[in-house]
Amino acid sequence: MRVLSSVKPLDEMAKQMTTADERPPAVEVLSAEKVFANGARGLAPIDLSIADGEFLTLIGPSGCGKSTLLKLVANLIEPSDGRLLWWRGDFAQVGQEGRRLAFVFQEPTLMPWARVEANVRLPLEFGNMPRATADPKVADAIAHVGLSKFNRHFPRQLSGGMKMRVSIARALVTDPNLLLMDEPFGALDEFTRNKLDDDLVNLSWERKLTTVFVTHSIYEAVFLSTRIIVMAANPGRIFRIMTIDQPQPRDQGFRDSSKFAACCRELSTWLAEASLQSAGGGES
Ligand SMILES: Nc1ncnc2c1ncn2[C@@H]1O[C@H](COP(=O)(O)OP(=O)(O)OP(=O)(O)O)[C@@H](O)[C@H]1O
Ligand SMILES: [Mg+2]
Repeated sequence: MRVLSSVKPLDEMAKQMTTADERPPAVEVLSAEKVFANGARGLAPIDLSIADGEFLTLIGPSGCGKSTLLKLVANLIEPSDGRLLWWRGDFAQVGQEGRRLAFVFQEPTLMPWARVEANVRLPLEFGNMPRATADPKVADAIAHVGLSKFNRHFPRQLSGGMKMRVSIARALVTDPNLLLMDEPFGALDEFTRNKLDDDLVNLSWERKLTTVFVTHSIYEAVFLSTRIIVMAANPGRIFRIMTIDQPQPRDQGFRDSSKFAACCRELSTWLAEASLQSAGGGES
């Protein structure tokens, strides 16, 4: 009896560890490349595994294929060669078993004639969700981005940062597991951007999201990410990978730390090297 009771917790631990280890990656990019119809080579073959729950950022010089890679992950475009897997399956199973994907574009792309709540409700209407089920989800998503007082406003009555928040609420309302964002805060001032980054890091953590994020900002990349992919152009490819070994969620304390400064310095050097490589068109 004594032996059994001492063995049991170990068994449970082993079971838990196996379950965690067996969690499939959210996305696998398997030698996927992209040649466009006009012959332009957007991406050289890329291999990348995106772990469930990680915050992955793509950064690199203009034209290195960040948006192309993100669109492949969103299945908005297809690879010319190679393939991608979502939770070890093909894209058809996204939307089943509670696995959902949402995309946030650089522009908020709101319907100007519709109030905030109607803009956020849109994806649920596309899914024919009854109003009574949709309404609390819409209110919850708007509250999450701190816009409850503005739910009857029209986009023209909102600041740029507030419009971006509406766009994020519209992505969150579908309760995604995989959130893809292409330079969502690129047009905002630094103070607003930092505020939205703070919110995003908490949201991703609370909701256990897998996030793939594109930015040109070194500070934003280091603050948000668990892993940063530095890309180079001509052809678009992975140049280097930086892991940011800092617990989530993060706060201003991390921004003020010497570790943050050191990561930013190193990333800045890598980006300069990636730009040189891109101009020369050489492989790393
Ligand atoms: N539809 C398309 N047809 C032809 N070429 C394309 C197309 N889309 C992208 N490209 C080319 O593929 C390359 C990668 O483009 P992409 O938009 O992915 O770059 P990016 O890293 O997102 O750049 P930026 O930082 O400027 O947004 C570029 O050379 C671009 O000109
Ligand atoms: Mg782009």
